[in-house]
Amino acid sequence: MNFETKQDVLDWYEGQERALTPSFIKDIPWHDVKNHRLPDDLVPVLIYMRDIEILTDMYHEELRRTPTGKDRVISKFMERWGIEEITHGELINRFLNEAGYNTPVTWKEDVKSSVTSKYHLYARLLTTLTNCVGKSFTATHMAYGAINELSAAQSYRRLIAKAEHPVLTHFVKGIIREESVHTQFYLSVARLELRKSRFARRIARFVIDNFWNPVGSGARPKDLSDYTIAKLFHGKEGHDWFERLVTEKIRPLPGFDGLTSVTERIAVIADESPLSAPRLLIN
Ligand SMILES: [Fe+2]
Ligand SMILES: [Fe+2]
Repeated sequence: MNFETKQDVLDWYEGQERALTPSFIKDIPWHDVKNHRLPDDLVPVLIYMRDIEILTDMYHEELRRTPTGKDRVISKFMERWGIEEITHGELINRFLNEAGYNTPVTWKEDVKSSVTSKYHLYARLLTTLTNCVGKSFTATHMAYGAINELSAAQSYRRLIAKAEHPVLTHFVKGIIREESVHTQFYLSVARLELRKSRFARRIARFVIDNFWNPVGSGARPKDLSDYTIAKLFHGKEGHDWFERLVTEKIRPLPGFDGLTSVTERIAVIADESPLSAPRLLIN
């Protein structure tokens, strides 16, 4: 899709009905979860995905302190985006509970309070740097966001294939449809912002090539994030999947031709991390 302005992208987004409507959520056959096996080794993956979705509030808060977050169109998008990501986290948590993996009632607060002060300090520093660059940094934020949304959707697709659990497949397909709409927003705004100046393109490419890390890195324990990536994208087949369905979608953006760093980063983590599950604080 080619949009002329950010407002056109927002109008398109606001015209999209949610996949996870109240009636979709009401009809999820939770009673059937226990009738199908959930491989134990995918539980940490689900926990990681749940946590990232819930931490959207924190990323949203960080962005609000930057010129990107103060942009009228982007901040309007982020209000709904934030709500949708939280639903994703809540559905995953409900699924874990129905599958017999009980999580504390305070799980959301626990996830948020477990983020280290080192991470918050780093985030503050990045916000300050971003503010020094100004509005040109919006292109970087949008390109980064597009990669993260594409990675999320593809991680969910890999999860469905590995879990082979019908209830999980059903509601995660709904999540994927929403991630695809988010991807379209980020990609479209990134394209418009990158077109604006050579400076914006150079910064965006420099940041992605040198500092891109999978979503959630730093905010969650490293062993959990590495394990999730290894579980989902290990080996040539995993790398090729990521390359074809994430990196190849980013490469057509202005300034991103020949992009290889993102797939390379995933491939290194996926193949060098242990495939043994980290210990989790759930029962
Ligand atoms: Fe999500
Ligand atoms: Fe998303």
